[in-house]
Formats: sequence, C-alpha cells, structure tokens
Amino acid sequence: MVAGGDSRGMRLLVLGGTEFVGTAVVEDALARGWDVTVLNRGSHPAPPGVSVLRGDRTAPGGLGALAGAAGSWDIAVDTWSWAPVAVRDAAALLADRVGCFAYVSSRSVYAYPGVPGAAEDGPLLDGDPGDTEDGGLAGYNRMKRGGELAVLRAFGERRTLLARPGLILGPGENIGRLPWWLHRVARGGRVLAPGPADLETRFIDVRDLAAWLLDTAAAGAGGAYDVVCPPGHTTIAGLLEACMAATGSDAELVWTDPEPILAAGVRPWTGLPMWLPPGEMYDYVNGIDVTRALGAGLRVRPVADTAADTWAWLRGLDGPAPQRPDRPPVGIDPAVEAAILGQVSG
Ligand SMILES: NC(=O)c1ccc[n+]([C@@H]2O[C@H](COP(=O)([O-])OP(=O)(O)OC[C@H]3O[C@@H](n4cnc5c(N)ncnc54)[C@H](OP(=O)(O)O)[C@@H]3O)[C@@H](O)[C@H]2O)c1
Repeated sequence: MVAGGDSRGMRLLVLGGTEFVGTAVVEDALARGWDVTVLNRGSHPAPPGVSVLRGDRTAPGGLGALAGAAGSWDIAVDTWSWAPVAVRDAAALLADRVGCFAYVSSRSVYAYPGVPGAAEDGPLLDGDPGDTEDGGLAGYNRMKRGGELAVLRAFGERRTLLARPGLILGPGENIGRLPWWLHRVARGGRVLAPGPADLETRFIDVRDLAAWLLDTAAAGAGGAYDVVCPPGHTTIAGLLEACMAATGSDAELVWTDPEPILAAGVRPWTGLPMWLPPGEMYDYVNGIDVTRALGAGLRVRPVADTAADTWAWLRGLDGPAPQRPDRPPVGIDPAVEAAILGQVSG
C-alpha cells in the first residue's frame, strides 16, 4: 500500500515487458516517473530509461540475473502465458523482495460455459503451479490458472493482484485482430460485416489495462478482477464504424446474418476476428460483471480512440505488424468473403 495514495518514485519490475501488454505497462510506469526494471531474453528492445536484466525463464538458472540484482521492488508485473512453473519460480524468488505481485491472467480461467453474468466468484478451472508442460494454445486456460495459483502460493491473497482481461486491443497488438479489421476496412469495397450489428463486443484497451493494473497494485488492492469494459461500451457495429472513421474508409459494411457465414466454414472469433454469433460462447465472453474492477477505478477510453490509435501505430511501423508465433493468424481469405457476399446479395 502506498501511504497517502502517493505512488511517485515507485520501483516496478516487469517480467517480460517488451511486447504488447508489457510495453503498455512499462510506458505507463515511465510516464508516472517510476523506476522500471524488465527481465527478458532481449529479443525486443526496452525503452530508454529502463533497467534491463537478461534471463531465460525456461532455462536452468535463468533467473540468475534477478537473484543477483540488488534491492527490492514495490510491484512486480508478470505477463507469462506458458507453463506456470516459470511464474512459480519467479514468485518464489521475489516473495521477500516485492510488495505486490500482479499477474496478467485471463478470463479464460473460468470454467466453460460458466454462469452468464457471473463475476470473479464464477467457477474456476483447475491449474497446477508446478506444471512444466507448455500445453500450447489448447492448454492455455489451464496454464493461466496455474500461474494464478503460483502467485497466490508465494504472495498470499493480500499481496497478489490477478487481472483477468478478456480480449485486449490497442497499439502494439500482436495477435492481429483489430489490425485485420482496420486493414480490411481500409481496403474498401463491400465488407462482410458479421451480424447481428448490435452484438456486444467487450474488450479492454491495453493502455487502460496497464493504467488500472498499476493504480490498483499501487493502492495495495489485492485479489482477482475481471478487467473488461463495462456492458454497453460498444457493439460489433460500433467497432467496425470506429475502424471506418480511423482509416477514413468509404467501404460499405454489408451486415450479414450468422447462418451464411457459418455455413461457409468461417470460424467465429478467428475467421472474422472478435465476432461471436449469439450462443454459449458469446455469453461466456460477453456476459461479464465488472463491478469489482470499476469499483477499483477502471476507466475505459472510447472505442474510437482504440481504433484510431491502433491505426496510427500500424501506419507508423517500418515493417509488418508484430505477430505472436504461438497464435494462429486471423482473418478470412478475400475470395471466401466475396463468395459469401455474392450469396447473400442475390
Ligand atoms: N491478447 C489478448 O487478447 C489477451 C487476452 C487475455 C489475456 N492476455 C494475456 O496478456 C498477456 C500478454 O502478454 P504479452 O505477451 O503482451 O507480454 P509482454 O511482457 O509484452 O511480452 C512477453 C515478454 O516475455 C518475454 N519472454 C518470452 N519468453 C521468455 C523467456 N523464456 N524468458 C524470459 N522472458 C521471456 C519476452 O521477451 P523475450 O522474447 O526477449 O524474452 C517479452 O518481453 C499474456 O499473459 C496473455 O495470457 C492476452
């Protein structure tokens, strides 16, 4: 807990810190004037002003630089999403040197299909903090829960902050979901817009997640939080219209019922990124009670800003947008889109 709510001069350790979520956390902390250290293997540069420790968390002795580093930190943020044993080892090493350990978890730790509208008390999956198997994408949910349990074991309830985002969007996104829609809308013409247009599309802007995480950790408010925009923030139509505005596109959005899209073999969520037709998965992803995170100060920027800033970031890149190698590419082939549009238009 920061006395009097004054968090100036905080010391932050980010395990990771150089791709999507980690970069947003580091940038937010630097903007607060905090002292920031990152630990990673050095595949991507850290921003100026950040202290860098090198280590491979999957290798024997990979935390040596962390073990040998002097001092302590007020907050550690860990973005690990593979075998939880890496979280376990880091948390055990840091238990006496860090005040609050914040783990970027995921709403996928909740059992499926769960209880629509449930909050953080919803039924959870099992996980094993000692799990050494990187179960790949199929094991992702279990690994995230194992990571949570690893932090809880080392830091206890009060000093553990578990952030459970659903979908994360914004500048730096390395899955390609919002980038795909922005590029598709920018290309123009008739765009297959998956309906119903008023489907809720719940997500969190990475910068809002980062700000909330640091505020909440600095306030010493431990526990688990679903960190997702509140209901009514936007819809699939709102998102696509934000992409139109961001790119200045004159594309025509052709709103199309789910049936012909599904019949053409298009996969929800990945084929047309973020789109889920009404049903169990839609309820699981979008039926979220975020009262707790809002009570802890979560603020979300308009979807228009998320789209505009992501487009500005994409336009400013020297090369292709970053893409996580362990996530499948998203989007559909233009020929598939054209075939569906041809079918629904007559
Ligand atoms: N995207 C979404 O929609 C979404 C939704 C819900 C939850 N999440 C969660 O959000 C988090 C996203 O995190 P991020 O990947 O953007 O975090 P990040 O901290 O920005 O990037 C991952 C970091 O891990 C480091 N790293 C990778 N392998 C390593 C190793 N063996 N040893 C040491 N460091 C290693 C990378 O650097 P080096 O490669 O240089 O080592 C990099 O700095 C994940 O936990 C994910 O589960 C994402």
